[in-house]
Amino acid sequence: MNPMSTSALWAPFTPMRQFNRQPMLFESAEGMHYTTTEGHRVLDAMAGLWCVNAGHGQARIVEAIREAAGRLDFVSSFKMSHPAALSMADQLAAIAPAGLDKVFFTNSGSEAVDTALKIARAYHQARGDSRRTKLIGRAKGYHGMGFGGLSVSGIGRQKRDFGPLLGDVAHLPLPYDAGLRFSNGQPQQGAHYADALLQLLEVHDPATVAAVIVEPVTGSGGVYAPPVGYLQRLREICDRHGVLLIFDEVITGFGRLGHSFAAQAFGVTPDLMTLAKGLTNGAVPMGAVLVSGSVYDAFMAGPEQAIELMHGYTYSAHPLACAAGLATLAVHEELGINAHVRQVAPVWQSAALALREQTSVQDIRAIGLLCAVELKSRENAPGARAAEVAQRCFDAGLLVRASGENIVLSPPLIISEEQIALIFDTLQRVLDQVA
Ligand SMILES: Cc1ncc(COP(=O)(O)O)c(C=O)c1O
Repeated sequence: MNPMSTSALWAPFTPMRQFNRQPMLFESAEGMHYTTTEGHRVLDAMAGLWCVNAGHGQARIVEAIREAAGRLDFVSSFKMSHPAALSMADQLAAIAPAGLDKVFFTNSGSEAVDTALKIARAYHQARGDSRRTKLIGRAKGYHGMGFGGLSVSGIGRQKRDFGPLLGDVAHLPLPYDAGLRFSNGQPQQGAHYADALLQLLEVHDPATVAAVIVEPVTGSGGVYAPPVGYLQRLREICDRHGVLLIFDEVITGFGRLGHSFAAQAFGVTPDLMTLAKGLTNGAVPMGAVLVSGSVYDAFMAGPEQAIELMHGYTYSAHPLACAAGLATLAVHEELGINAHVRQVAPVWQSAALALREQTSVQDIRAIGLLCAVELKSRENAPGARAAEVAQRCFDAGLLVRASGENIVLSPPLIISEEQIALIFDTLQRVLDQVA
C-alpha cells in the first residue's frame, strides 16, 4: 500500500494524494448542516452534490427507507415489479409536464442519460428510420460518466483519458458570451445561439440526427441559464426536423428553479427528460427517464410477447429507492418547496449579484437557487483561487464547491433568507481576504 494512503478508498473526481493527506470526512447531517468527524459544523451550500433538495435527514424519508428495507428488500424489475414502483412512476408522471407519461427507472443520472440516448435511437429504429443515430450535445454540458453521457458532454478534459467515445456526435455552442455576464436569471439576449442547431443539422444531414440533449440550465459546467427564447427555438427546430429533444434535468429537477422541473419553469416540454439526485433527496441512488407517450407508443407496435426495449438494470425501481422517492415527493408537497424557492430565489439572486464589485470576480450567474461566482484566473495557477476560497469558506463553516474557476452554490431548497445572507456574507468576507 502507498505509505501516503490512509485507506483502500479510491474516490471519484478526487486528487487522492491530497485527499489522503487531509481527508474531509463527514459524520452526520441534519437540515442545512453537515458535521465532520472532528465535530466541525458547516452550512451545506451544495445540497450534498446538488441533490439533498429537501434538506438533510428528513424524518419522513428516513422512516420510509427503514420501513421498506424491513418489508421488501429486493425484487427484480425484469418482468415483475412492486406497488411502490407503480406509484412512483404515476406520481412522477403526474407532476411532469403534460405528455411525459412514461417512466423508466435507473440508478443514477449517468444511467438515466445513457438510457435516454438509447431510447432516442431505438425510437427511430422502431419507426423504421434507422438512419437517425447521431446525437447532439452542447459545449460545457455534463451528462454523467457513462460512455454515452461522456460522448455528448461538452467538457473536454473529462474525455481526455478514455479513448474513442461514441462517434456520430456533434455539439452546440454554449449560449453565452462576455455581453451576458452578470445576468440575473435568464439573459435577455442570446436566443440566436439556438440557430447553431440549424447549422449543425445542415452539416450532418438532419435526416441522420436522432436527438439533441441539453441541460436546461448548464450545471456542473458552470451554471449558465438559457437566454430567453433559446429553449423554445431549440424545440421548434427539433420539431421541424423530426429530432427528439432531451432535457437532462438531473440538477434542475425537483424544485431547483421553483418548479418541479425546468421544463415548466421555462415553458418548453422535451420528448425525454432525465432525472436523478433530488428524485430521492439523495438518500438512495435512483435515476429515471420520463418519456413522452408518443415515443413510448412507437415501441408498442411489434408482437405483444416481445420485449420492446432491450435495456435495464438489476436495481431499476429498487424498493428502497421507490420508498425514498415517494417520501421525497410527499415532503416537497408538505413543505411547499416550489413556492418557497419562488419566494426566496430573487433574494438569492440579488445577494449573489451583489458580489460583482469584488475585484477577483469575473462573472456571476444566478438563477433559482443556483449560482456560480466565477473568479479571475491566477496566472499559471488555474483554479487555485477558487480552491483557496472554498477552503477558507469551509474553515469559516460554509461548504461550497470549487469547480475550475467557479465557486458553485446550490443549497438545500429549504434555505431561509437569513441563511442566504450568511452564505453571501461569508463568501464576501473570504473574497476580501483572498488575493
Ligand atoms: C446534468 C447531469 N446529468 C447527469 C449527471 C450524472 O449523474 P450521476 O452522477 O448520478 O451519474 C449529473 C451529475 O452531476 C448531472 O449534473
